Amino acid sequence: MPEFTVLDSAEDVAAAAAADISEAIGEGARTLVLAGGTTPRRCYELLVNMDVEWGRVTVLFGDERCVKPDHPESNYRMARESLLDRVAPGTVHRMPAELGPEEGAELYSRVVAVLAPLDLVLLGVGEDGHVASLFPGHPALEIEGWATGIRDSPKPPPQRVTLTLSTLRGAKRVIILATGSGKAAAVTRAKRGEVPSGMIAGARWLIDRGAAGT
Ligand code: 6PG
Repeated sequence: MPEFTVLDSAEDVAAAAAADISEAIGEGARTLVLAGGTTPRRCYELLVNMDVEWGRVTVLFGDERCVKPDHPESNYRMARESLLDRVAPGTVHRMPAELGPEEGAELYSRVVAVLAPLDLVLLGVGEDGHVASLFPGHPALEIEGWATGIRDSPKPPPQRVTLTLSTLRGAKRVIILATGSGKAAAVTRAKRGEVPSGMIAGARWLIDRGAAGT
């Protein structure tokens, strides 16, 4: 069963996530999968000032929108501006999603194949309970490879590359962040296992009071 930890504020969630990541790297985690969206930004900013041997870390991404890497909607750009321009990981594997969902997923699958099982995966949650670009009821949930492309994301932009549910489930450690009352319904549905974010058994959820509905 996933474990849910409720913290007072979004700032506390970001701090707890950064502490977990830093500790996991200190304990030997070498592959770190970053989340997109807006929630993890503060966590990334906090990590910049933490004592982490970034040279030992290989950074990957859980999903990417099919836009150029310098586009304002790019998950890579968000991670670069908040973290990767300010620390120096040994390797950064961005998802080349600007090549399109199919080619992007094909190229990324080759990267993940040699690195899996992934040590530490960070994920955000959508209001509908999606994680990465795995949306409730979408056929991509059934795909078995390492990564897949989609062309009909309900959250814009529609074209995306995402790790598969089986890749996320195979990771050694998964941390899921949810903050704000807009995520409360998603958290409730995840607890019942009804949405993709609730389908990763060993995940550790870090949520604030808003997302917990308290
Ligand atoms: C994306 C994401 C997606 C995101 C959630 C939460 O590319 O959109 O990776 O899975 O993490 O939708 O997004 P927010 O943190 O912005 O609410």
